[in-house]
Amino acid sequence: MTDGLRLTVLGSGYLGITHAASMASLGFDVLGVDTDRRKVDQLNDGQLPIYEPGLEELLRDGLAAGRVRFTTSYQEAAALGDVHFICTGTPQQPGSNHADLSQVHACVAALAPLLDRPCLVVGKSTVPVGTARRLATELSHACPGAELAWNPEFLREGTAVADTLSPDRIVVGVTSSRAEQILRQVYARPLAAGTAFIVPTLETAELAKAAANAFLATKISFINAMAEICEAAGGDVRALAQIIGADPRIGPAFLRAGLGYGGGCLPKDIRAFAARAEELGAGASLAFLREVDAINLRRRARTADLTLELAGGNLTGVPVCVLGAAFKPGSDDVRDSPALDVAQILTGMGARVTVHDPAALENARRARPELRYAATVADAARGAHVVLLLTEWQEFTALTPGALSPIVAQRNIIDARNVLDPGVWREAGWVYRALGMAADAEAMTRLDPSPWQA
Ligand code: UDX
Repeated sequence: MTDGLRLTVLGSGYLGITHAASMASLGFDVLGVDTDRRKVDQLNDGQLPIYEPGLEELLRDGLAAGRVRFTTSYQEAAALGDVHFICTGTPQQPGSNHADLSQVHACVAALAPLLDRPCLVVGKSTVPVGTARRLATELSHACPGAELAWNPEFLREGTAVADTLSPDRIVVGVTSSRAEQILRQVYARPLAAGTAFIVPTLETAELAKAAANAFLATKISFINAMAEICEAAGGDVRALAQIIGADPRIGPAFLRAGLGYGGGCLPKDIRAFAARAEELGAGASLAFLREVDAINLRRRARTADLTLELAGGNLTGVPVCVLGAAFKPGSDDVRDSPALDVAQILTGMGARVTVHDPAALENARRARPELRYAATVADAARGAHVVLLLTEWQEFTALTPGALSPIVAQRNIIDARNVLDPGVWREAGWVYRALGMAADAEAMTRLDPSPWQA
């Protein structure tokens, strides 16, 4: 099935490790390349530098079967690979909304001069539209037998392995049918399972990722804008989301109102997309994405204001418990984490904030060493005047007033992810506030229980 194709995966961040281990599990021989020697050694030892369910097992299986290994040598990669996947990161440039492409360029600059036989170089990183066409020219000058394709990756953290092995769709921007045929071989297994295979131009392939993320961010900010209206008008955004989401033209996914989106993708990708549109003279087309971003950031400020309100107008020295540091449950990623941002804002307002998270404490400590951390919910909540649920880990959504009432100093809770039952907390004597529900909202509308926590 693999027809002897040998693959290299350049960059061993989230995307690179997942792609390398997944391709090995499909039966390919895979060489992962990273310039960070420590990371390479760690991966060759079967240790994952990130938290991702199922990935460590997959990596270890691949290592044990001799299907995957990691190196710092581009020389080795150039000699071995029939297909080279570019999986380096494209973070936001400091002080600008543009994407920082230095890792992508460095990786092509390191590989291209070493290529001396026909091969396919396949970009998976998220890049501004136009990048692939420039890289294709650079590559063909360096090695006439090397060709470029663009194959954006839509995986989500927390479900990265399943998203890679059974994607919704496979998008391959190509400039020749030979490139298409090679990628059909690479993805033969998901194709046999019926996954849609779409073959657009390089530009459309690049845009596919930007557009998908822009749409997802817009959907979240749309429901969060409705949450602001609900707060002002006395509505309940959970019921509203369920009602509009029942319309198949709208759909229920990505309508969970609350603290908004964070992570290493959506925030920086929509900023980079808008910045690129401006360069193209089409800034007006994506001007709405600035509002999407602004709505998203306003939810963090609103959560801090609610905390101030519950603390009686002064947070100086007030003990506050923050539950959540990861940008979403099932991940230890704290990049642009709404939860950590709120913890930071509250600290700036004078509160004594203690943060607990089941997986992201180590990363949080590294990113925000000035915050206080606790190893358990109880340690974080003890003596608190306000408890904030900011990341919807299952161990937080399952919390009951019975567990927290005896240990907090005051019974105030902010459910910034809309996952608790307000009635239960209010009956137990708590002041319960959520994003998207007015302070004086009566016991919640009866929701259909099935998508209650969808
Ligand atoms: C996202 C895209 O989903 C994925 O296709 C792309 O490849 C990378 O970016 P990821 O960053 O892993 O994936 O997270 P995702 O599950 O999309 O969630 C992003 C953020 O949105 C999280 O902070 C999450 O809490 C928030 N979110 C999601 C909401 O606030 N409400 C929702 O309804 C859904």
